[in-house]
Amino acid sequence: PPAPAPAPATEASAPAPAPAPAKVYVVGTDAAYAPFESQNQKGEIVGFDIDVVNAIAQKAGFEVKFVNTPWEGIFNSLQQGDRDFLVSAITITDERKQTMDFSNPYFDAHQLIAVRENSKVTKFEDLKKLKVGVQTGTTGDEVVTKLQGKNSTTIKRFESTPLALKELEAGGVDAVVADNGVIENYVANNPQSKFKTVNDASFTPEQYGIAVRKGNTELLEKINQGLAAIKADGTYDQIYGKYFGA
Ligand code: ARG
Repeated sequence: PPAPAPAPATEASAPAPAPAPAKVYVVGTDAAYAPFESQNQKGEIVGFDIDVVNAIAQKAGFEVKFVNTPWEGIFNSLQQGDRDFLVSAITITDERKQTMDFSNPYFDAHQLIAVRENSKVTKFEDLKKLKVGVQTGTTGDEVVTKLQGKNSTTIKRFESTPLALKELEAGGVDAVVADNGVIENYVANNPQSKFKTVNDASFTPEQYGIAVRKGNTELLEKINQGLAAIKADGTYDQIYGKYFGA
């Protein structure tokens, strides 16, 4: 015979409601940008940005779930509501500020050139007529487009920065322009690529911010408070040291 259905819980017998679980925010990141965000051998998303956001979340009392999100669609994924916020070594720019809100800056960066060891390139101007690889839609893309002009046919755009660097090794491009931290990390970890870096005084300071949907001040305030807390108590410095040395 069928087992009797369990008695419906009555108000009198129901346990006290559990405290509301911490909110889990879905965080988009283009995890092909070591040391800021990348996937380890187990497929886990790891990196400086990940540690910073995890530390912020702990202070601010929310939970996070990182979702690998191609750069190409990353801002759209925020706009559409598929992601609650983005951490992806994103440079705060006036243009981006029109469509999203940024946390206080959490990292200083600038552009840097990678070339093969035997390259004669010594300054950014030297790239004017060369084949240059960039990740589509990044600030690296912006500076090279400004140098070579909108109609340039010698800018090679890639969906990720590692793909551009592979092409530099293969000889398909003469240089790659991307954020200093990523170029330096790649050059240090891939000696077989035989690259060197070239800096240029024309590269202006950039700052990374965490992006939320425009007007989401409630979340932005939590993030900014968490960021201030990890800066104040040394957690930020500890994470910084882990990835970039003291
Ligand atoms: N900082 C640069 C920008 O905002 C590049 C960021 C690329 N980030 C990434 N995870 N692929 O345009």
